[in-house]
Amino acid sequence: MEKGKILVVDDEKLLRWSLQQNLSKEGFTVITAENGAEGLELFLEDQPDIVLLDVHLPDTSGIHILESIKKENRDAIVIMVTAFGDVQTAVKTIKMGAYDFVEKPFNMEKLKILISKALETVSLRKEVFQFRSQIAKKYGFSKIIGRSPEMTRILDLIRKVASSDATTIMLQGESGTGKDLVAKVIHYESSRVDKPFMDINCTALPETLIESELFGFEKGAFTDAKQLKKGLFELTDGGTVFLDEIADMKLSTQAKLLKVIENKTFKRIGGTKDISVDLRVIAATNKVLTEEVRKGNFREDLYYRLKVIPIELPPLVGRREDILLLASHFVGEFNREFKKDVRGLAKETEKAFLEYPWPGNIRELKNVIERAMILENADYILPEHLPIELHSVGLKGRSMPGAQISIPPGGINIEDVERELIKQALENTKGNQTKAAKLLTLTRDALRYRMQKFGLLEKA
Ligand SMILES: Nc1ncnc2c1ncn2[C@@H]1O[C@H](COP(=O)(O)OP(=O)(O)OP(=O)(O)O)[C@@H](O)[C@H]1O
Ligand SMILES: [Mg+2]
Repeated sequence: MEKGKILVVDDEKLLRWSLQQNLSKEGFTVITAENGAEGLELFLEDQPDIVLLDVHLPDTSGIHILESIKKENRDAIVIMVTAFGDVQTAVKTIKMGAYDFVEKPFNMEKLKILISKALETVSLRKEVFQFRSQIAKKYGFSKIIGRSPEMTRILDLIRKVASSDATTIMLQGESGTGKDLVAKVIHYESSRVDKPFMDINCTALPETLIESELFGFEKGAFTDAKQLKKGLFELTDGGTVFLDEIADMKLSTQAKLLKVIENKTFKRIGGTKDISVDLRVIAATNKVLTEEVRKGNFREDLYYRLKVIPIELPPLVGRREDILLLASHFVGEFNREFKKDVRGLAKETEKAFLEYPWPGNIRELKNVIERAMILENADYILPEHLPIELHSVGLKGRSMPGAQISIPPGGINIEDVERELIKQALENTKGNQTKAAKLLTLTRDALRYRMQKFGLLEKA
């Protein structure tokens, strides 16, 4: 098996020969060049994994060649060969990005170990790269399913935002509407794709930890700070920070976050030096942030800063064409995953899907399909494969005064109907939102979300 390709650039014929002999025996492919120009040419043509580069070359300095190689490929692994005792040059080349150096005359065994170590770095990088491109494929635009007017508009917006320079984006929507998915798609479809996507759940991080996690700390900043620690912001430099459940971030941290966004710099805890970062911040919440601002739980200035590009993910209810499209998408996905061949939804199941209000949105729909496909072995998903709440919508629909609502000849605005129903539910329950939500088979969040949309919150 081929272990790796090594380019040796050295003017000493004997040394080239001896390296070729020794390293080929170990299973490496060795190519050689006797001067800088030839070396650079071979580097570009043959793309070796490692370059062994002499500092003293007949036509130019190895340092210049190192510079050209690094310009071509920042990640290239170059081991410098220096004159014995020339530490200054060695240090200089390391600063320029050389992987390591060996002094002439060198010990072949030591060199072999160094090369193996360098190759491990190469293969690790390849793995990371493959891993990243696999993830990137998983989170392309095509993974966001929906062709309703609402979703078409949102997809357009996401496309524009991903390729823009926008550094703050706010995702709002009920639970299960796709905020996580959209955040990842925006990252993996942006030029930041090769940099990290840092998923930070503001609820999961305990208050005491959040600042040291985000900003890092200097050695000695507090009793336990035995070592300097870089924070998540620093580690994500060039990439995207996804601040999920942003409404749960405490006020003092919000103030610091605002500063990072505005100045693009921050200090580690206990530090005095400003550290610059290039970050895209995507914040997400299923709370109604304006209300959190009103209650004093969320800083207004941060709200406006994040809201520069707001993306509001619509609840699933009412998007009929998306419900069935998503259902058949998930059937396909689970067919592949479970190696099944389910054809789709039975007609009655489609009807139940269209009538059900989906308080848990797309996540709930996905789970319902997954469950049916794991538990049942039929060609089509039948109503009896569905959980009880879905199973009974059809029946409820029949026994409920559904027939009292009829569309007038001139048409009707569905939002007016929704608003009216919400008002009625609130009146019937004397403003008790939990009860009103139950009456409408909505979650409380979903109800509040709609109340906000229809301007009913202030009155409540
Ligand atoms: N438009 C969509 N197309 C395909 N799959 C989707 C879509 N929206 C969401 N999903 C899938 O639905 C599930 C729930 O979505 P996601 O986790 O992004 O929701 P969320 O808005 O972050 O919810 P929460 O507020 O509870 O965190 C995920 O498996 C996601 O891949
Ligand atoms: Mg989420």
